[in-house]
Amino acid sequence: MPKIISAMQRALGASGPLAGKKLVVTAGGTQEPLDPVRYIGNRSSGKMGYAIAEEAFYAGADVTLISGAASIKPPYGIEVVYVGTTREMEQAVRGAVADADALVMAAAVADYAPREVSEQKIKKSEGGLTIDLEQNPDILAGLSEMSLPNLVRVGFAAETQNLLDNAKQKLDKKKLDMIVANEAVASIGADSSVLLLVNRDGNVEDLPPMPKSESARVIVERLANLLRQKAGANGS
Ligand code: CTP
Repeated sequence: MPKIISAMQRALGASGPLAGKKLVVTAGGTQEPLDPVRYIGNRSSGKMGYAIAEEAFYAGADVTLISGAASIKPPYGIEVVYVGTTREMEQAVRGAVADADALVMAAAVADYAPREVSEQKIKKSEGGLTIDLEQNPDILAGLSEMSLPNLVRVGFAAETQNLLDNAKQKLDKKKLDMIVANEAVASIGADSSVLLLVNRDGNVEDLPPMPKSESARVIVERLANLLRQKAGANGS
């Protein structure tokens, strides 16, 4: 979007539904190096997370965007922290959420990393190659170790089967307020998405196919509702 239009949208949203709220959004894919020239990564484009960061910014939020690898430019006017690996993203998220009102984890996070990273380029030799992988930390689940009683948490579930059941399990396991479930093969890298929004209270909203910029607007509206509910529950 042209800078002048971005600046106007932001100015219009200065008293919007997220005014005064601090939001952390993760986007893109984390990458795990194998050697100086290779990595294990995924097909995330960053489009969904970037669109959410942008919509939240226009709704008045103070947004920190923590980005792994992405194929598009970040939205104008938003502070971006670039990270490589899952552990780097974990560190950046833990630092940023300490004084945040909400976290939206739209990033596609690598669950495994090579146990050893070769200092030199791995040379090919006869036969195949076996790489020993170790499990990465779960960034969202790990936040339950920190005392963040007021943080609204929104996760994503990228699934290729049993979309709703798997999303509900992740919502519980990672102690989320809402999870955005998407069919991974159709969504990853695409401009549009078909999403299910599942709330902690069991409410399921089935969104029709729409561009990611529009689904981002719906997600930000639902996030504003969650923040209002939390503030109401805290009597503030
Ligand atoms: N996530 C995370 N840390 C990880 C993996 C995922 O914080 N190590 C977050 C993602 O950003 C997303 C949610 O958890 O918001 C679910 O991610 P997803 O990749 O769908 O599921 P996983 O928990 O990795 O489980 P699985 O790969 O077995 O489906």
